[in-house]
Amino acid sequence: MSSGPPLLPSTAYRIADLAAREEEVLRIAEKHAADRQHTRGKLTARERIDLLVDPGSFYELDRFARHRCTDFDMDAQRPYGDGVVTGQATVDGRPVCLFSQDFTVLGGSMGEVFGEKVLKVMDLAMRIGCPVIGINDSGGARIQEGVVSLAYYAELGRRNVLASGVVPQISLVMGPCAGGAVYTPALTDFVVMVDDIAHMFVTGPEVVAAVTGENVSAGELGSAEVNSEVSGNVHYRATDERDALDWVRTLLGFLPANNLDECPVYASAAHDRTDTANTEDALTPTDLALDHLIPDSPHQGYDMGRLIRAVVDDGEFLAVQERFAPNIICGFGRVEGRTVGVVANQPLHLAGVIDIDASEKAGRFVRFCDAFGIPLLTLVDVPGYLPGVEQERAGIIRRGAKLIYAYAEATVPKVTLAVRKAYGGGYAVMGSKHLGADVNLAWPTAEIAVMGAEAAVTILHRRRLRATDEAEREAVRRRFVEDYRRRFATPYAAADRGYVDRVIRPATSRIEVARAFRMLRDKRQETPARKHGNIPL
Ligand code: HXC
Repeated sequence: MSSGPPLLPSTAYRIADLAAREEEVLRIAEKHAADRQHTRGKLTARERIDLLVDPGSFYELDRFARHRCTDFDMDAQRPYGDGVVTGQATVDGRPVCLFSQDFTVLGGSMGEVFGEKVLKVMDLAMRIGCPVIGINDSGGARIQEGVVSLAYYAELGRRNVLASGVVPQISLVMGPCAGGAVYTPALTDFVVMVDDIAHMFVTGPEVVAAVTGENVSAGELGSAEVNSEVSGNVHYRATDERDALDWVRTLLGFLPANNLDECPVYASAAHDRTDTANTEDALTPTDLALDHLIPDSPHQGYDMGRLIRAVVDDGEFLAVQERFAPNIICGFGRVEGRTVGVVANQPLHLAGVIDIDASEKAGRFVRFCDAFGIPLLTLVDVPGYLPGVEQERAGIIRRGAKLIYAYAEATVPKVTLAVRKAYGGGYAVMGSKHLGADVNLAWPTAEIAVMGAEAAVTILHRRRLRATDEAEREAVRRRFVEDYRRRFATPYAAADRGYVDRVIRPATSRIEVARAFRMLRDKRQETPARKHGNIPL
């Protein structure tokens, strides 16, 4: 006698059959997955989802989907889910769509059904207007399914592009991510990678050795460290999976669900009063400390992070790409409970100069903020673009143009505060009035000029200095420097022309910035209709 289903199954049989299938997915397969993943020091696809989303909120789709491949005896084994768990859930009560690749099923590789599931959940995210989160742990294109797998990677890339600027897209890399599969995370807005368990490269060590003869380890090619500090592919390097998921939850708290939605608004703490008529009354000790932030010597650095934390609510700031191009800081904070994107030069690294990496990092960040209606706060202390053969040959002209493009294109409220150097091209690009900033503030310590005094005097007075008696030359040079400083190394030449709207005492920065953003809350700016611009790539 066959032990298959009865010819006319009863309702009770069918319900029991569903329970058995669920048992297969949620208990038996999950136990197998946990055994395999835990020995590798990794969580399962479902455990990762559970850690990310609100308890009980996960609404799984396509739990029983299975591949249809018959090559390579694939029909002998048709696991439920096909190597990816997909669905919708909430994080802090707000909807997200997600997919989590299951390395324990066919190496988490992408075949036709896997691809269909991921596309379906991305399409759902676009229809309901919520972020998409992808957890990557996969051997890439499913070898047994051949070109069909490749087709789905390309389809996925197309969805990433269609979703870009419509819903936030976040990738977590928690295992292997190699070959063309890397381009799915690369097309998303934020990539988080976990130390030790994750690798990301286009070609692995064996191919590199075969093609170029170089012997490198997987870590040297594409560890979380390399991707977050050297290549800049990754926005946050997490110490472990929990840290990665925590970071994503924090990030989501700053973002709108989609490009037509508002960012979540939080109540400002009482000690962060900004809506007072008498500014002096509202100054906190942190505000007052800003009066001493700028050292008297122009050659001395200081931590721009102190100003950022003093201006944003509760000193809470989420840095993005913190370890890549640290000469520019990008990240999210809140002002009066509302998200702002902060871009700031960091004088502690390369004196806060703009190099290629800094331009690309900040350019992409500015474009993200603009796409999702997040106002921009720019804090300026920049000696200019980085000179040198290496930068010129690597394309600082083309690649440095990206930041100009991004600022000029952005129509969100833009508030800029110059605190010290704002020299040359650096002045122009860092949220200047001329690129469309709405409110430009400056501290009295701001030096808005073509270049610093020493360099200017060397160029302007070279001939006169050469003609001066050597014994007197230094004294004459000093006088020229002092004269230049008095006349140009101030915010007042720019304020004369309205390039700076207000020169403010440093201690009032938090209140001034809040007032400016409050004033701009309903800003609307139209741009001419066009298919799209052509940012220098
Ligand atoms: C089918 C795969 C697979 C794949 C892994 N597996 N990758 N099955 N297609 N691409 C299976 C293995 O056969 C194995 O099955 C299980 O997953 C675990 O793999 P292991 O090799 O045992 O694990 P590990 O030693 O940790 O090595 C992981 C790995 C390695 C580094 C990812 O499996 C690997 O190199 N895989 C191939 C990677 C690759 O070249 N992918 C194509 C990239 S090109 P069993 O049954 O033994 O457990 C690409 C094109 C995209 O993705 C195009 C975009 C446009």
